[in-house]
Amino acid sequence: MLLKDKTAVVTGASRGIGRAVAIELAKNGANVIINYSGNEAAALETLAAVEAAGGRGIVVQANVAEMQSCEQLIKAALDNFGKVDILINNAGITRDNIAARMKAEEWQSVLDTNLTGAFNCIKAAMRPLLKQKSGGRIINISSVVGLVGGIGQTNYAAAKAGIIGLTKSLARELAGRNITVNAVAPGYIDTEMTAVLPEDLKATIMSQVPLGRMGTPEDIAETVVFLCAGASYITGQVIAVDGGLVMH
Ligand SMILES: NC(=O)c1ccc[n+]([C@@H]2O[C@H](COP(=O)([O-])OP(=O)(O)OC[C@H]3O[C@@H](n4cnc5c(N)ncnc54)[C@H](OP(=O)(O)O)[C@@H]3O)[C@@H](O)[C@H]2O)c1
Repeated sequence: MLLKDKTAVVTGASRGIGRAVAIELAKNGANVIINYSGNEAAALETLAAVEAAGGRGIVVQANVAEMQSCEQLIKAALDNFGKVDILINNAGITRDNIAARMKAEEWQSVLDTNLTGAFNCIKAAMRPLLKQKSGGRIINISSVVGLVGGIGQTNYAAAKAGIIGLTKSLARELAGRNITVNAVAPGYIDTEMTAVLPEDLKATIMSQVPLGRMGTPEDIAETVVFLCAGASYITGQVIAVDGGLVMH
């Protein structure tokens, strides 16, 4: 119970990686704020799993692309648990298209959700995080696509690379306040986001993964908990959790 009495806000926790992160944080003792955008039923399933694991949580609808929505998300955390110790910026979408055909809306919505969404939540959570002298944690979920690019993903890669720059800058700004800021860059993880990929593309990707399998949401959740529950001398880093797909 390394995270006992800590309060963690997890954006996009109704499904996939965010759900696994919320459950794993709760198993380690944290109170979790389970954010979702439109899928309330799925968010309530996450809450049920958190409670089944012996944890406590609340479900809060908020669109991270909107600043006011993020302020309400953090207010809900403060109203229910009195503080925010951990912020996991996980909410994300894809709108894939080759650049020649990409519509302005496809570009903008991905940047708004995946990059501005993280900034909005950071801004909203800044004051309560600064109040915690015991060491805050911000984890931003990037992607290996932000490191190496991806065909049809100029919007997504730009947002995920932006997350890395944001992480490193913020890590420098907050280091003196005992708040670490890191990015986790998942490879290909088995969620609804990747379920839509064509089978032949999945097979090609898998042939390039040294560990020979897709990742699970729990693979990412383990790394997030590692960064939250200790790791006090790690900041400004990008940790790829990708079965060895991208090696530096
Ligand atoms: N899966 C992968 O292979 C992979 C690889 C690298 C990086 N990632 C990143 O990991 C994160 C999670 O991905 P995933 O695969 O778990 O995705 P997912 O299964 O599609 O789930 C996305 C989550 O984000 C929420 N969300 C979407 N737009 C939102 C908004 N505007 N405001 C608040 N919440 C919003 C969704 O809420 P609703 O349920 O309400 O729609 C859902 O909870 C994303 O940032 C993604 O880019 C994933």
